Amino acid sequence: MKRLIVGIISFSAVINLSYGENAKELFKKYGCEGCHSDYGIIAGPAFYMVKEKYMKKFNGDEEALRKYLYNTIRKGSQGKWFDFLNMKMPSHPQIKEDEMKVIIDYIVNLKPPKKEKGEQSPK
Ligand code: HEC
Repeated sequence: MKRLIVGIISFSAVINLSYGENAKELFKKYGCEGCHSDYGIIAGPAFYMVKEKYMKKFNGDEEALRKYLYNTIRKGSQGKWFDFLNMKMPSHPQIKEDEMKVIIDYIVNLKPPKKEKGEQSPK
């Protein structure tokens, strides 16, 4: 019986870990996907647009890009994209550090959209 319990506990630990690795799950968990997609504009800019804009701004310096993304996701943002819509990106103090890394990795590593039609991300 004891061994069974230990087994269950370590099994759920493994599930937790892989959950944390999955950016799409985090976009769902924190509601990002309601306002963002990889290549299409919803309420906020596409993640790929964000990556391109700041990659250029920081002259391809990935560390600078990562730092910028970290701060802007934590604090939220307003007035940098579609000012006329007057939409605001909420702050996210509740995201865990390891989850932030997963999210930032995902955005930084987004590939250019496929030629046919952007929206589907390769999986
Ligand atoms: C309620 C809608 C909404 C939600 C939820 C939301 N965003 Fe945003 N996001 C926006 C809007 C609107 C902007 C554009 C803000 C601006 O113009 O400065 C934005 C901008 C951004 C930017 C670019 C900011 C900049 O400095 O240029 C990043 C990165 C981003 N969002 C990531 C995320 C992530 C990751 C999540 C989830 C943890 C998230 N957003 C959740 C609406 C949202």
